Amino acid sequence: MCGIVGFTGLQAAAPMLLEGLKRLEYRGYDSAGIAVFGDGKIRTERATGRLENLCIQTQDGTAVPGACGIGHTRWATHGAPTEYNAHPHLSNDGKFAVVHNGIIENYAALREELMAHGYVFQSETDTEVVAHLLEMYYHGDLKSAVMKTVSRLEGSWALGILCADYPDRLVAVRYASPLILGIGVEENYFASDVTALIGHTRNVVYLEDGEFAELSPGKITVYDCVGAECKKTPVRVNWSMEAAEKGGYDHFMLKEIMEQPRALKAAIEPRIKGGRVVPDGIEMPQQWLEGISRIVITACGSAYHAGCVGRYVIEQLCRVPVQVEVASELRYRNPIIDEHVLVIVISQSGETADTIAAMKECKARGARTLAIVNVVNSTIAKLADDVMYTWAGPEIAVATTKGYTTQVAVLTMLAVYLADRLGRIDEAEYQKLVAGISALPERCQRSIDLNPHMDRLARKYHRHNALFFIGRNLDYAVCLEASLKLKEISYLHSEAYAAGELKHGTIALIEEGRPVVALCCHDALFDKMMANIKEVKARGAQVMGVAIEGDRRILAEADDVVFVPAADPMLLPISEVIPMQLFAYYVAKENGCDIDKPKNLAKSVTVE
Ligand code: F6R
Repeated sequence: MCGIVGFTGLQAAAPMLLEGLKRLEYRGYDSAGIAVFGDGKIRTERATGRLENLCIQTQDGTAVPGACGIGHTRWATHGAPTEYNAHPHLSNDGKFAVVHNGIIENYAALREELMAHGYVFQSETDTEVVAHLLEMYYHGDLKSAVMKTVSRLEGSWALGILCADYPDRLVAVRYASPLILGIGVEENYFASDVTALIGHTRNVVYLEDGEFAELSPGKITVYDCVGAECKKTPVRVNWSMEAAEKGGYDHFMLKEIMEQPRALKAAIEPRIKGGRVVPDGIEMPQQWLEGISRIVITACGSAYHAGCVGRYVIEQLCRVPVQVEVASELRYRNPIIDEHVLVIVISQSGETADTIAAMKECKARGARTLAIVNVVNSTIAKLADDVMYTWAGPEIAVATTKGYTTQVAVLTMLAVYLADRLGRIDEAEYQKLVAGISALPERCQRSIDLNPHMDRLARKYHRHNALFFIGRNLDYAVCLEASLKLKEISYLHSEAYAAGELKHGTIALIEEGRPVVALCCHDALFDKMMANIKEVKARGAQVMGVAIEGDRRILAEADDVVFVPAADPMLLPISEVIPMQLFAYYVAKENGCDIDKPKNLAKSVTVE
């Protein structure tokens, strides 16, 4: 999704902006641009495709003089990914350059109004109206022009503004789209996320919705929406630079798969104290909790799949009905939600537009919301009544891995915690599960040790153009994620099916040689899975069985076997999904795919 950077200081701005944009590449984009004030005017450079094209065009920024500028990577929403639609956008008088993340929902009406005033549009974007509004409202007072402009906007925006009358000044504006200020020594910055800043500073200020800031090399002033100066306390960011880089692996995705023991440790360890689950950030009153009628989990993509795991575990332990629904459906369904419903919102980025909208819809109906989020201070984290951070660290690869497994770990802890508070779990089971959760980081290392085996299996299966994943109960929830992982990075067609559903239609697609990955880790359902494997084998399928270490029954039917370490069934999804992540990774690698930035995908989906 779009990324924004801004720099004002004493050194050349363009190379700094390009470096910042490079760090935001992971968000997904299809064009990029910069605007720098130099030699008495604002100069813009824009290019479609990879950032590399902009680097070549500007000789790595050295051809663009000036020490104050803004930059942008665009993921097309309004208008094709062309150079003229790429940001920054200029006002007609060339005085203002604007970069924008988000959507100006009333842009069509504003465009008409501005055209009636004689403003000429150069692009199809919603953003360009901002540049013209600034020109229209500017009479020598930048702050007032910014406030008047913003008061006309509806939708969401993180804006970076450059004005030719203020050669060393930047304006940053935030509403419903993230924007972070970085404090340097005689230089200051802004960016859509901290990844773009940590190479230069660790001291940041998070803008809140409605706030805007003026930045010059030696000063940052933050204002609230009515223009009153507000005091902000800088926050120190601890993410290491190395954590945001590949650390020797070929791809961020592989690095992040390998990081899972550490990420899970960070998610779990601080929440287990003296053998009890002690989640931080939950202030749910006991009486309210005891009165809840049901739990609704909402999220998108892999986070939704984590929610599917959560449903089984929470229902099993808490005996409270749980509904899981993709956010883009829930938000438009006039959902039956009231003040007796707990809504669990799951998001790695905390900025997914559909998830935010569904969450707001549920809040408006009186529900209490609990967010499971990775990115601190993200929109979803801030909107929620209660927050459990996943503490996975920065996730750069578009395909989530450690983001997903830490969500599952946190959901499992939450289930145990809620079951305890509701008095629905006996002490022996509680203790057994807490011990199992504490062992997850170590157990997941054993799944990671399957790395060479999954590489070998990927070499065997990578040429097939369609694969199926089948499983029952929690194994089915894992199948959903395994299948998404494979299709999103390898572009192979794959589907996940509840194994019992196969014979109701899908089995028609099974033919000679068709790979079927069968997850058979639930002892109680093992025989049922064996029956399903026999059905597909009878129609020519090649079966890769995933089973519990030591369970040799699978060898009788499967062509290939992946053994994962034994655990309580509720704690198995993480051990099972890791080999599936590795399988997807190696299949994509065999097929020469752009693993960290799969085509058509963005890391943070901030549009509907
Ligand atoms: C798939 C993937 C996506 C995200 C989805 C939600 O690998 O990463 O399906 O899970 O876009 O994103 P977040 O969790 O940031 O809300």
